Amino acid sequence: MSGHGTPIPMTSRKCGPLKGEANVPGDKSISHRSLILGAMAVGETKISGLLEGEDVLDTAKAMRSFGAEVINHGGGNWSVHGVGVGGFSEPDHVIDCGNSGTGVRLIMGTMATTPISVTFTGDASLCSRPMGRVTDPLALFGTKSVGRKGGRLPMTLVGAADPVPVTYTTPVPSAQVKSAVLLAGLNVRGKTVVIEKEATRDHTERMLVGFGAELTVEETAEGRVITLTGQPELKPQTIVVPRDPSSAAFPVCAALITEGSDVLVPNIGLNPTRAGLFTTLREMGADLQYENLREEGGEPVADLRAKFSPNLKGIEVPPERAASMIDEYPVLSAVAAFAQGDTVMRGVKELRVKESDRIDAMAKGLRAAGVEVDEGEDWWIVKGRGFGNLAGGVTVESRLDHRIAMSFMVMGMATEKPMSVDDGSPIATSFPIFEKLMADLGADITRSAQ
Ligand code: S3P
Repeated sequence: MSGHGTPIPMTSRKCGPLKGEANVPGDKSISHRSLILGAMAVGETKISGLLEGEDVLDTAKAMRSFGAEVINHGGGNWSVHGVGVGGFSEPDHVIDCGNSGTGVRLIMGTMATTPISVTFTGDASLCSRPMGRVTDPLALFGTKSVGRKGGRLPMTLVGAADPVPVTYTTPVPSAQVKSAVLLAGLNVRGKTVVIEKEATRDHTERMLVGFGAELTVEETAEGRVITLTGQPELKPQTIVVPRDPSSAAFPVCAALITEGSDVLVPNIGLNPTRAGLFTTLREMGADLQYENLREEGGEPVADLRAKFSPNLKGIEVPPERAASMIDEYPVLSAVAAFAQGDTVMRGVKELRVKESDRIDAMAKGLRAAGVEVDEGEDWWIVKGRGFGNLAGGVTVESRLDHRIAMSFMVMGMATEKPMSVDDGSPIATSFPIFEKLMADLGADITRSAQ
């Protein structure tokens, strides 16, 4: 089990207005998929704007271990010389995916129908997360796996030598599970079908089509039916990774709660499977505008302008929106603390199995800071206190979870006393430039305990 380095305590204090442009890094989901699909194509895939966070760098390392040539040309420009569908060779060492659930689950799918044995591990957070949600459907192809109790890492998978196509209805709304099954289906003759009752982020589907696979999506009464024809020859692509809406969420939310702020966050994808937070914030009364709305690479893109919003009100977030903002509930709950009234979030059981139990991690920190929170297994309610009424002045455990650490740093910009986290080092998994970007806008975040 790998660990992180020395913990980095961080403290965020009330600051003057945030002003300027926030150029957030590349999309994490698309970055992982660019490397993985590049490794399965024949020839050279060129990638620009790759997120160079630890999670994605671990996936790059893994692709090298399977035989792909992955080259960093600097400045976010990378190339991958792929080995073709079914061309992965057996790594001679354990694959360490660090903190990344997306990395490990997608890579498991990718190797599952090639007859090689692979042992996976990760950090303490990843080793506590359930892998059965992926190994169960992979077993239907003929993949064998053995891990620790409860289907936890470290875990060894033996890829199916003679895989059969599978039809699978995902039991939980998860793009990782859907993607693992589709990636496994690539090396299987015949049609692999995934049915999801609720739409989750669709980057795998879009990118598979881009790489030349035959894939159709039908909206039916049972849900989205995705059909992939196996054993295509994937054609190398030139990929420009869009900026990550999940990272944009932090400077946007910081601006909404910091007096006098006016921040522009350019070039953010508004794919409806990812943009739920921005809709929700607008419903809460946020001064959040979409400027220069356009289409790029078939996706809606806009520059987001967020201004201080003194009259936020709590709302009921529609549960059917949960999948499109699943990673944004922690920072939403930090903003909700400054709204008038209750913000009600239902249908969010998945938050309990992320990098940490995110309902528990946020609820504990919010309560310590002076906010009332009610919670059940798949719901929680944050009772907003409005501006000027929230004490803060506490140190919260970030639990190896980047989004918990960043959410409390955002919150500290508007609490009366500073907010600290015991360890901000996990921020480097998804947003390595977070501290510099926030400092450039005018935030006061330091590497220190209270
Ligand atoms: C991701 C899917 C989501 C999300 C994660 C990235 C992806 O996880 O939370 O950060 O890239 O497929 P689930 O599939 O577990 O919902």
